[in-house]
Amino acid sequence: MSLQPNKILGAVLAVAVVVFAVDFVSDQIFAKQDLKTPGYVIDMNAAPAVVATDAPAPAAVEPDPNAPAAAATQQAAVAPAASGVPPIEERLKTADVTAGEKTSKVCAACHSFADSGANKVGPGLWDVVNRKPGSHEGFKYSPAMVTFGETHTWDYATLDVYLTNPKAEVPGNKMAFAGVKKPEDRANLIAYLRSLSANPAPLP
Ligand code: HEC
Repeated sequence: MSLQPNKILGAVLAVAVVVFAVDFVSDQIFAKQDLKTPGYVIDMNAAPAVVATDAPAPAAVEPDPNAPAAAATQQAAVAPAASGVPPIEERLKTADVTAGEKTSKVCAACHSFADSGANKVGPGLWDVVNRKPGSHEGFKYSPAMVTFGETHTWDYATLDVYLTNPKAEVPGNKMAFAGVKKPEDRANLIAYLRSLSANPAPLP
């Protein structure tokens, strides 16, 4: 009688035990954990935020709407790169409502322009010029927009700054839109917004 087969069997079993042990231990060490937050968040504003840096001038102008002369000086001082952009009051003089209506197509995914004032993803924009931000009936605004409305009005200048970079002008507001970067496009768009009223606001 040879003990050889038993020895071989014993060796195989020993190896199997070791393999299982290693497997078990490594599972403990490298336990897989589900991520609580996604590894990366797609920030729709990331790229435009960079673009926006070449047009920060309106933001500098905005807190000082009653002092256009001072604001213009400030604009030149703060952002010489954008100092060539005439104020919205100037740009509205040559604005093209029809072109603005075309530009507004990018808004229509979220906003209705109809006089019903219907809300979609965003609030209805009929009669938005000179409206108090965050005040359109039946729309659930972000707290950020409501707070903004306590100290602002959607006048031409405020719309101009907001539509350049919505997230920068009203941090925390929920309009997921990068902004309209070309000053001329914004002027056309604002002229179109102005036309959406039974009594359009006077031109500046
Ligand atoms: C992806 C959807 C989306 C797009 C596209 C979009 N908006 Fe908005 N917009 C919103 C939402 C949502 C709000 C409400 C923001 C809040 O409550 O914080 C809003 C708010 C606004 C407001 C403030 C209105 C108020 O009653 O205070 C204006 C003005 C506005 N948008 C204009 C525009 C214009 C003009 C465009 C196109 C150039 C545009 N939006 C594109 C979703 C959008």
